[in-house]
Amino acid sequence: MKKILITGGAGFIGSHVVRLFVNKYPEVEIFNLDKLTYAGNLENLSDIDSKPNYHFVKGDIVDAPFINALFEREQFDGVIHLAAESHVDRSIANPMEFIFTNVVGTVNLLNAAKSIWQGHYEGHRFYHISTDEVYGALGDTGAFKETTPYSPHSPYSASKASSDHFVRAYHDTYGLPTVISNCSNNYGPNQFPEKLIPLFINNIKHNKSLPVYGKGINVRDWLYVEDHARAIDLIFHQGKTGETYNIGGNNEWRNIDLIKKLIEIMDRKLGRPEGTSLQLITYVTDRAGHDLRYAIDATKLRTELGWEPTIKFAEGFEQTVDWYLSHEEWLNNVTSGSYQEYYHKMYGE
Ligand code: NAD
Ligand code: DAU
Repeated sequence: MKKILITGGAGFIGSHVVRLFVNKYPEVEIFNLDKLTYAGNLENLSDIDSKPNYHFVKGDIVDAPFINALFEREQFDGVIHLAAESHVDRSIANPMEFIFTNVVGTVNLLNAAKSIWQGHYEGHRFYHISTDEVYGALGDTGAFKETTPYSPHSPYSASKASSDHFVRAYHDTYGLPTVISNCSNNYGPNQFPEKLIPLFINNIKHNKSLPVYGKGINVRDWLYVEDHARAIDLIFHQGKTGETYNIGGNNEWRNIDLIKKLIEIMDRKLGRPEGTSLQLITYVTDRAGHDLRYAIDATKLRTELGWEPTIKFAEGFEQTVDWYLSHEEWLNNVTSGSYQEYYHKMYGE
């Protein structure tokens, strides 16, 4: 492939995927298409943005004429689609944005790819990045397999489930060469501090309360973001067309245990007496429709493509805390809104 479009490349996971592809495939032109919503931040890519094979395009995947014109002009060989509204709490407050971006935006991209490839699918691929949340919630045992029936509970997961169905429908109906992966919770550098780990790091740092939803007994399976990016690279290049691959960390934590571990690390790094920040824990009203437990069975990805997580949680978690503590300016910029000014300075509007 000569030209690959990555959508949502200025966001958390997308920026790690763009960096990996730009550095690993210098002969391939990598286009990062991003609307730069509150979650998109070009600062995430400042280390690679002058590379000759990197191109940034500001645009909205909901805007079909714009998307069609972009595909016509650039004739992308492959698409890796990460752009989305990604935060469950925001989806509860404002579902429509999730339907526009996650459902309509995905179908616009499918239409544009179908239109330029016109049935000549050799050497082309449309890779849709999805989430384990489409499978719903687990009880105390078991893990999601690729064959687990969909049962989304939040507007976010319902919109992602819907987009997954459209991707499969375009494969089954038009033969579009698609592939999908469903991943568990990612953690690592550059995650917007509305999500649990960076939010709580920031709050502990500023001695602000830590709002634990419900009893803190919900379980998530955490994967270091660079391991997810490696899986995406592998699936994009070696995954079977029409297939779905689950990606997970095999690393389940109850929220309250994860938060206590985070407090232990933060107190040590901030030079506070052990346990000081435990007093910040505040139990608040539970998230509506809060899924109790997610766990991923990634056997297919391991046995078929040889992928396994490489970063041990103890190591990745410490590195993550170090990254946020040493990137105070990044945190201040995204939390104060001044990164928006940065964007306006760079691109006008
Ligand atoms: P994010 O919110 O950090 O980034 C999303 C990016 O998409 C941002 O850069 C934003 O500007 C861009 N975007 C949003 N709406 C757009 C639009 N209409 N047009 C163009 N760009 C738009 O999200 P993330 O956490 O990096 O997640 C990326 C993808 O991975 C999403 O599809 C998400 O569903 C999926 N996913 C995330 C996780 C996780 O733990 N974060 C786990 C599994 C799957
Ligand atoms: O499982 C994959 C999904 O992981 C992705 O598809 C989503 O894009 C991503 O946001 C994430 O969803 P979660 O809802 O699991 O992540 P979040 O960081 O919002 O919350 C993690 C857990 O922590 C969840 O059980 C809710 C809880 N929580 C979260 C916040 C923000 C709290 O207790 N308090 C909080 O303030």
